[in-house]
Amino acid sequence: MILVLGSTGKIGRELVPALLDKDARVRALTRDPARARIDPRAEVAAGDLDAFDPALLDGIDRVFVLTSGHGSDPLTQERTVLKAATDVAHIVKLSTTGVHFGQTDPISLVHAEAEQAVCEAGPGWTILRPGTFMDNRFAWLHAVRGDGVIRVPEGDPSSALVHARDIAEVAATVLTSDGHAGRTYPITGGEALTTRRQVEILGDALGRRLTYVEEPEADSRARMLGYGWPASAVDGMFELKRQSAGNEEIVFDTVRDLLGRAPLRFADWAREHAAAFA
Ligand SMILES: NC(=O)c1ccc[n+]([C@@H]2O[C@H](COP(=O)([O-])OP(=O)(O)OC[C@H]3O[C@@H](n4cnc5c(N)ncnc54)[C@H](OP(=O)(O)O)[C@@H]3O)[C@@H](O)[C@H]2O)c1
Repeated sequence: MILVLGSTGKIGRELVPALLDKDARVRALTRDPARARIDPRAEVAAGDLDAFDPALLDGIDRVFVLTSGHGSDPLTQERTVLKAATDVAHIVKLSTTGVHFGQTDPISLVHAEAEQAVCEAGPGWTILRPGTFMDNRFAWLHAVRGDGVIRVPEGDPSSALVHARDIAEVAATVLTSDGHAGRTYPITGGEALTTRRQVEILGDALGRRLTYVEEPEADSRARMLGYGWPASAVDGMFELKRQSAGNEEIVFDTVRDLLGRAPLRFADWAREHAAAFA
């Protein structure tokens, strides 16, 4: 049986059905089973990574390790799970391309340490390093529903955005087939798009014209602080942005190599989520 952490998140909610479709048995972790809408074929388990109960690993032979980028202390959470998981056969950790490129922003550094911990934990391991998620463009939701003016920080780089379903399908393949032990897979979409082009594509999917406006970083920063984001999170995000700028447009072939098909495109994502932006 496979334990999936983060089963209700962007990747987890695609991963659980993908595993079940491959006839795997799945235990899906959530802090709140009553609120979670998890595929009924899965066994739903209540649990909190800040107080991890080792009994969640009873009968488990593989673990998908994902911690929230917004969690309090993801490194401690992952170490706690690893300490309890010495008897499982294989661990698949969700990391970031930031580690691939040797970035030293706070998010990449935490993932780098957590990767190291996974490699030293004992069980077999595979590391997945996705680039920027298409789902990050949900940050434009309020602007799209409002005046249709999308404000982005100056110098936003072209990005080979990746669809969460592609990451989930790669994870499902790695969790259910042999030959991935000790491997590290960077995962991106198949095309690098400027942010202006992303805005056009989203507008096309919605059948309306959206306006793209570049603004000084200080204005973007002030807006995020205004949403109530902690200053440390905003700083970390801009540091990550600065360090990843030269790497965002790099395309990796992992989706094609492991899934035998082209990566999903931003236009696919925009069509799928058009109703949410309406
Ligand atoms: N966004 C990007 O562009 C990007 C790029 C590369 C890598 N990443 C990495 O992707 C990972 C996930 O990203 P995200 O933050 O956007 O995740 P997410 O999709 O928002 O999912 C968070 C998941 O974590 C669970 N969770 C949160 N706190 C928990 C706790 N204390 N105990 C148990 N479960 C908990 C939530 O489940 P419940 O609420 O149901 O408990 C939810 O299923 C992060 O490691 C991030 O660094 C992101």
